[in-house]
Amino acid sequence: MRLGIISALQEEQLGLVEAMERRYKLIHGMREYTAGQLWEIDAVCVLSRIGKVAAAMTATTLVEKFGVTHILFTGVAGAGDKTVGVGDIVVAEALVQHDMDASPLFPRFEVPLTGRTHFQPDPSFSLRLSRAAHDFLELDFLDAVNETERRAFRLLQPRVHRGLVASGDQFMNDPARLEGLNAALPGLVAVEMEGAAVAQVCHELGIPCAVIRTISDNANENAAIDFMRFVKSVAAQYAFYVTRRLCRD
Ligand code: ADE
Repeated sequence: MRLGIISALQEEQLGLVEAMERRYKLIHGMREYTAGQLWEIDAVCVLSRIGKVAAAMTATTLVEKFGVTHILFTGVAGAGDKTVGVGDIVVAEALVQHDMDASPLFPRFEVPLTGRTHFQPDPSFSLRLSRAAHDFLELDFLDAVNETERRAFRLLQPRVHRGLVASGDQFMNDPARLEGLNAALPGLVAVEMEGAAVAQVCHELGIPCAVIRTISDNANENAAIDFMRFVKSVAAQYAFYVTRRLCRD
């Protein structure tokens, strides 16, 4: 196994590169790829930046140039449903590009000429990932996130959800738009800006992938402020501890 780990922003991956042994860096396509050993696993870490094209470019490069056999996307997302709260973890069971709409030529959300609206991550990789997320919340959470942060974000009993993740080139901060998406996409649990692009690339290249997201905001009027605060102080802790559990599993 050679694991590619993508996050959009530095704050979503902080600590992982530092934890890599025998690491070396390579620049390609305006991104820095760090290869090495992560808890005995051969790995390559990279920041995609934000958006579907950036994520697709990064995932393709990881496979074609760096020879990764699996891709993990780890980062934050807005809540896609009222049952999902800030601090909860979402592991994608399926991903959809919510801004894809070539109707009336093709049904809404269908990626033209693929016959698909939804892309599935690898079931066993995703199961391992959700086990790692459960164990993190049960066993590491109090060490990973200090009391001040737990209070500030009202992180009482964060949970793990499995479900549909919708990606689009839009930061979601409008409750009416989210409600519309929610009605159109049953099982929606999170909204973000990269996962479904990575899932499409991995589907087309035959590479198993998994997507994990920590909820940073409720995709409403306060989303931008909540997102910034969460990403600055908490997001990296989740990514680090869950990835460590996944690699050691
Ligand atoms: N990532 C984190 N929060 C988000 C939101 N509200 N919309 C899109 N991507 C996000």
